[in-house]
Amino acid sequence: MGAVGSQTLADPGSLGMEGAAMLRWGLVSTARINDRLLDAVARSERSQFIAVASRDGQRARAYADRWELPIAFGSYAEMLECDELDAVYISLPNDQHAEWSVRFADAGKHVLCEKPLALSTAEVDEMMAAAARNSVVIQEALATRFHPQTARVAGLIAGGTLGRVIFGEGVFDFTMPNTTDIRLDPELGGGAMWDVGCYVVAFYQAVLGEDPVRASAHAVWGPTGVDLAFAGSLSYPSGACVQFTASMITPVARLARIVGEQGTLILDQPWLTNIGALTTVQQEVVRQSMGEGTFGDEPGTIERTAWDHGPSDVYIDQLTAFEDMVISGVSSPYPLRDSRTNVAVITALLHSARTGEQVTIPRS
Ligand SMILES: NC(=O)c1ccc[n+]([C@@H]2O[C@H](COP(=O)([O-])OP(=O)(O)OC[C@H]3O[C@@H](n4cnc5c(N)ncnc54)[C@H](OP(=O)(O)O)[C@@H]3O)[C@@H](O)[C@H]2O)c1
Repeated sequence: MGAVGSQTLADPGSLGMEGAAMLRWGLVSTARINDRLLDAVARSERSQFIAVASRDGQRARAYADRWELPIAFGSYAEMLECDELDAVYISLPNDQHAEWSVRFADAGKHVLCEKPLALSTAEVDEMMAAAARNSVVIQEALATRFHPQTARVAGLIAGGTLGRVIFGEGVFDFTMPNTTDIRLDPELGGGAMWDVGCYVVAFYQAVLGEDPVRASAHAVWGPTGVDLAFAGSLSYPSGACVQFTASMITPVARLARIVGEQGTLILDQPWLTNIGALTTVQQEVVRQSMGEGTFGDEPGTIERTAWDHGPSDVYIDQLTAFEDMVISGVSSPYPLRDSRTNVAVITALLHSARTGEQVTIPRS
């Protein structure tokens, strides 16, 4: 173990010295997704990684050498005792998110935990209680939400330019090459809905300003018992309906489209998991419809506006927001109660896909 020189970060939110405090991070696992946060942290002046924990000590040591991390632990539990850490990044399989978030929170560490935050609302309740009793931040790492595009879309919808929202669409499809991937294991919380459907659910939670009340869904189940492809439908109190697909067995496709009575928003890169993506939010608003006497199938006068963003890195956007929460005490724009709602929605969708029934989503 090497010596780590940086100030102790205690009493989160009380420092009032943004830019001067340095968060010292540990990685909980050697997952592939770590690379994204390692790259983001390398570009931050407020964070540094100093440790990694793995189920396997040799793997931890090799990983630490590769990324020049001074501390390596041969189990996650050993890392709990490390006084030099302020925060951990949990990139474990989905079934272990809740357990290790709670254990690290109880050890006094702030937690950035990969999506989906948990597999049941009961698990989220335990995480919320752990964050509260230890005065630490637990944040779901659903990075897409931290891109400025998400706030822009939420603002455009709230501003009323589209009129009443009638439909939302979402597509997050890809083809998974790896037959031993954690996403195929039901015991680890696998399946397309938990893996990529969660982005669509969280996106609409972030932009619509209301939560769905009913879910119905269809799934294509694989031999291991997970959903390989998923089609879901969510109904909202306003009367809006969101329909989406989430797939691990079809060609790459990504899109979101929000349709109101007066206009449409189209996002070409709504989930933004690829670094450097150039994204466009395109708005089409009907300024003058055709008069009576037509069948209503003429477009009328359409005003088109486009907002370009990029090149994007949502992992930096997310890291900056997390640093603000821990160092400056800024409230999360996507707190745990939002994650809890999304877990309830996903659970209802999966129940519908299994039973063929329409499911009423319990209120948080
Ligand atoms: N935000 C995003 O853009 C994004 C993208 C991809 C994935 N994710 C999320 O990140 C998490 C990790 O995904 P990933 O694809 O990076 O995972 P991965 O490469 O398969 O790594 C998972 C890690 O978890 C540890 N682990 C503990 N128990 C395990 C078990 N029973 N089987 C396999 N590994 C186990 C392993 O680390 P050790 O052996 O070193 O302990 C392994 O390296 C998931 O929750 C996923 O949803 C997020």
